Amino acid sequence: MKGPGSRMYLRVSLTDRCNLRCTYCLPDQARFAPDRAATSELLKLTNLIAEVGGVHKIRLTGGEPTLADDLVDHVRNARALVPIVGMTTNGVLLEPMLPALRDAGLNRLNISLDALDRDAFERRARRPGLDRVIGSIRAARRLGFDPVKINAVAMQDTDYAALVRFAAWEGVHVRFIELMAIGEARPFQAAQYVPAVDMRTRIAAAGIRLQERTDRDEPTSRVWSIEGHVPAECSVGFITTTSAPFCSTCDRLRLSSQGRLHTCLMDDRGHDLLTDLRSGDEAAVRTTIRAAIAAKRPPARFVREGVMAMIGG
Ligand code: 5AD
Ligand code: SF4
Repeated sequence: MKGPGSRMYLRVSLTDRCNLRCTYCLPDQARFAPDRAATSELLKLTNLIAEVGGVHKIRLTGGEPTLADDLVDHVRNARALVPIVGMTTNGVLLEPMLPALRDAGLNRLNISLDALDRDAFERRARRPGLDRVIGSIRAARRLGFDPVKINAVAMQDTDYAALVRFAAWEGVHVRFIELMAIGEARPFQAAQYVPAVDMRTRIAAAGIRLQERTDRDEPTSRVWSIEGHVPAECSVGFITTTSAPFCSTCDRLRLSSQGRLHTCLMDDRGHDLLTDLRSGDEAAVRTTIRAAIAAKRPPARFVREGVMAMIGG
């Protein structure tokens, strides 16, 4: 288990709000928190966690991080702390923000895209936006973001082959995420779940040949290359959260937009850091962070009540 001072990976949720309503994540009539920690408070907490936890990588998430008006400030602040700063976004509002994000130092970009067909996209996201997401992916490539990764949550009706072909054509990477029994997805997770082995069977059935590339594996995904394509430019990864959990090597910490530190995705409550910060007791904040990291354990059950948008996946 990781202890304080070891190299951790921090994900900061900038808002729980989202402009989409993906069925596995949010209800159509989602209700969001009325307020958020202030910019200066979230920046300060990011800095304290980075220092106490020995953080080497930061990812900005949501909800939808492009809805946060202090996004660029967070990118700049994070890049002053660590060399790798990423963002996970649904891409709908992203394109016009890309130059400022790049200039602030964003160097990893994951754009969620579950379907390439307009009806399928809108069934999944319950909102329009497909053209703008694709526009953002292309703009990111043009502006030199590398790598650009597409995240697709894997369900029964996912068109795996179409997403792989799109990735190969656009020169981006695709990561298929096994559906987790979290929040909104709990009632249908068992029926909709597709394990990574079945995804590969479906891709092969469409005539696409994948080759296993254990040399390119990432901490949370098994990476394959597409025959005939350069693996550095496009690859296919499988995030096997459910079929092969990676809890034993997990180095992730999550800071919510409410100023709570969660040491596991399955941890609904988290540790409040904001109250001590607001009363000026920075030493107490550090103590809480240190204790939370020391107590980080794999979850007893792989189920979570709260919505994913609260702590950003
Ligand atoms: N299972 C797997 N991934 C999920 N995400 C949201 N809800 C789920 C779920 N139930 C993913 C989104 C996005 C990230 C924020 O979390 O697709 O990539
Ligand atoms: Fe929004 Fe991402 Fe949740 Fe979809 S998965 S509703 S884009 S936060």
